[in-house]
Amino acid sequence: MRVLSGIQPSGSLHLGNYFGMMKRMVEYQQNNELFCFLVNYHALTTVYDAALLRKQTFEAACDFLALGLDPSKSVFWVQSDVPEATELTWLLANVTGIGLLERCHSYKDKTAKGITPSCGLFAYPVLMAADILLYGGEKVPVGKDQKQHLEIARDLAMRFNSTYGETFVVPEADIEENAALLPGIDGQKMSKSYGNTIKIFSDEKDLREKIMRIITDSTPVDRPKPVAGNVLYELYALFLNKKEKEHLKERFLTPGLKYGDVKKELFGVIWEFFEPYRKERQKLAEDKQYVVETMRQGARKAREVAAVYLERARRNVGLDYWN
Ligand code: ADP
Ligand code: TRP
Repeated sequence: MRVLSGIQPSGSLHLGNYFGMMKRMVEYQQNNELFCFLVNYHALTTVYDAALLRKQTFEAACDFLALGLDPSKSVFWVQSDVPEATELTWLLANVTGIGLLERCHSYKDKTAKGITPSCGLFAYPVLMAADILLYGGEKVPVGKDQKQHLEIARDLAMRFNSTYGETFVVPEADIEENAALLPGIDGQKMSKSYGNTIKIFSDEKDLREKIMRIITDSTPVDRPKPVAGNVLYELYALFLNKKEKEHLKERFLTPGLKYGDVKKELFGVIWEFFEPYRKERQKLAEDKQYVVETMRQGARKAREVAAVYLERARRNVGLDYWN
């Protein structure tokens, strides 16, 4: 099965990214053909600082590699190293109804948060569809927030195929219900664009500070604490197995629990969980040449696949005027 997904280098990668997508991608590389990429064209819709985009792209590459993405078992690259994606975006744009894009929650949420409603932001789902169709992606592991974008990618693949003849694989979303939509420290969706994340690789001080800031309700200590919709409980539960989760739930339901104590505990759990990857992450960050060369090699592999799909699409729409 060809499994494919991308992530924006628009900020430091966080627990939502990890549980919603990265962890599963690393697991999938064992028994599937894995295609994984850093979508820096997409990041241009929100990042207007070139130095920052460069830095974040490099850091995202280090994060993935440190967390176990193995470039010898997968195809791992930076989106803009395969510019074919932008050409396919244009071909797809012509089978994309405006209404489809106007209904996108992500576009509405981002503009409501004050992000400039540019043409790029509006067309974001078309570029994302191109990313998927260009490589014949069958299964796409994403968080729940990307469900609608995946539906658009499916819709465009079907429309293109029915308009011009069989060209693309129709992809399917793969959403992990347990980590469908992780809340950030303020209770909204954890997102790089909302400044409410817990980074995977933050330093000790920053991690502690973020965890202490997790929003909690004002239930008195001598009362049972709610678990449904409790951000602290939801984040902690991610690191626990079924039995441990039951135990945590029981502790929340027993009067006397102090949120402050749970936060201190959670800090330890998260710090320890990522400990094995931290050294590797540091090593990679100090070896820029290796990381860059790894990404370049990945792009060469990706480009070979992209060339086949793009050529077919060009021919099917009639750009091959010489024939
Ligand atoms: P962000 O919203 O932080 O910019 P991206 O849009 O780059 O994150 O998302 C990268 C991947 O991580 C996607 O598959 C997305 O669905 C997943 N993801 C992002 N935030 C969350 C979250 N809060 N909960 C679950 N998955 C998430
Ligand atoms: N839009 C996705 C996100 O914000 C990132 C993305 C871009 C993507 N292209 C993709 C995800 C292709 C899966 C497949 O998370």
